[in-house]
Amino acid sequence: MLGQLLGALATILIVLASQASPSPDGLAQIGMFGANTGTTRNIDVAPVVLKSVTVRSIDTIDAITFVYLDGNGKEHKVGPWGGTLGYDHTFNLTTNEYVKEVSGTYGPFPTQKLPLTVNSLIFVTSRGIRYAFGTPGASDTKFNVPLEKGSIVGFSARADNFVLPLASTFARNMH
Ligand SMILES: *[C@@H]1O[C@H](CO)[C@@H](O)[C@H](O)[C@H]1NC(C)=O
Repeated sequence: MLGQLLGALATILIVLASQASPSPDGLAQIGMFGANTGTTRNIDVAPVVLKSVTVRSIDTIDAITFVYLDGNGKEHKVGPWGGTLGYDHTFNLTTNEYVKEVSGTYGPFPTQKLPLTVNSLIFVTSRGIRYAFGTPGASDTKFNVPLEKGSIVGFSARADNFVLPLASTFARNMH
């Protein structure tokens, strides 16, 4: 148990050290997890509060859409990034609720003969609610973005017809 925890922490620290890019607005990013192909999808205005997430999925993650508030309280809807297959599933975050962990899996998507797609995603909120989408493949690689402090306020991805890799944007020192 402790060994697993330390292993996970070491992995996160390595990911943080190598991939997090702190910025003046207190945002950093963990990822990309998945393929290194696909059209880059990013947000222009810094997110402060994540309001809702919509994942289109069946056997893989087809697309992701999210709504967030910026520093002026203005709402931004981002996406869908991805394709049109699958079904939309939306969860809303209530006042003071935030996403504190994102995990998932990536691997081959045989149905579409794709070598690497994000196939499943799980979001855990500060109220302990867990939202799971997609279907992990038998040979998938797991990834995990748990935060001790701060909240996940947005995402970036590379996506065309499917979400190929995904990154979580998080704001530190908020909670
Ligand atoms: C999420 O909130 C929107 C309005 O902001 C509402 O239309 C929708 O039904 C809500 N969805 C869920 C699953 O609560």
